[in-house]
Amino acid sequence: MSAIKITGQKRLVLVSGRAHMALAEQIAAALDSELVHTDARTFANGEIYARFDESVRGADMFVIQSHTNPINEWLMEQLIMVDAAKRASAKRITVVAPFYPYARQDKKGRGREPISARLIADLFKAAGADRIMSVDLHAAQIQGFFDGPVDHLFAMPVLLEHFKALLDPSSLTVVSPDMGRVRVADIWSDKLGAPLAIIHKRRDPLVANQVTVHEIVGEVEGRTCLIVDDLIDTGRTIVKAAEALKAHGATRVVVAATHAVFSDPATEILQSDVIDSVVVTDTLPLPPEKHWDRLTVLPIAPLIARAIDAVFNDGSVTSMFDGAA
Ligand code: R5P
Repeated sequence: MSAIKITGQKRLVLVSGRAHMALAEQIAAALDSELVHTDARTFANGEIYARFDESVRGADMFVIQSHTNPINEWLMEQLIMVDAAKRASAKRITVVAPFYPYARQDKKGRGREPISARLIADLFKAAGADRIMSVDLHAAQIQGFFDGPVDHLFAMPVLLEHFKALLDPSSLTVVSPDMGRVRVADIWSDKLGAPLAIIHKRRDPLVANQVTVHEIVGEVEGRTCLIVDDLIDTGRTIVKAAEALKAHGATRVVVAATHAVFSDPATEILQSDVIDSVVVTDTLPLPPEKHWDRLTVLPIAPLIARAIDAVFNDGSVTSMFDGAA
């Protein structure tokens, strides 16, 4: 007689915070499943309450939340949902945070600064998360901030698929808008068979969201320039880069970014004539007023659904990316 007793079946449970229900519903649909309804409410004083409508005992739970503005509220809601899942005896809890909150605060640039991305990982852990799934972390080392498995997904296959049919590699240059993106832009340049250019961007450490461009390293004159970035927040990094590229003779500037944060004035300034098109994914919700004719939004749900399926079935997430990891 075996000492190991096998009973019952694993149960996949998907729940979502309120920030971007459309994305969570698309993920559930791609998995041929449905979200377990959560009774989530905000009280008059701002406190959040969440309770799942069904039992989650013994479940393999995926708690989805999209960290859009107001980011602290959505973060708190997800933490509360993880806590509720833990106290309801879920067997395993995975935080699905397509856009990892506070990812840009990943190190101390100056004395007396916090490392908020680490704090976020600690908060998820304290709430009861066993693992984290996220798309295009601003810095890969964030994986090490969480003491447990982190499934780091890449939107590159989704974005590349879109661009491959549209761009001619013989006249294309892939552009990293700052030093932080060079490694990722280099992978894009390999995949597209196009050379790489790098922009030397500087920020004023004393003024938030201000960007200046210093130099461009690489061949951009007479070429279509594809700027790749993990996120667009105010849009200033991209607009400054596009202005510099056009001033150096680029014929077209197209932009690919995973996370469309689009804080003001992004929607307005990204419509500048120096930018020919912008392609993003829907890791974050984009209301109709933040769309324009030269913006394309690609669905990220199929990629996340495949990764959830792989995690649930003990399959491989790495193999989804064909060596991109
Ligand atoms: C910087 O390191 C990031 O990759 C983005 O380029 C930056 O955070 C975007 O911010 P913004 O759109 O406000 O310039």
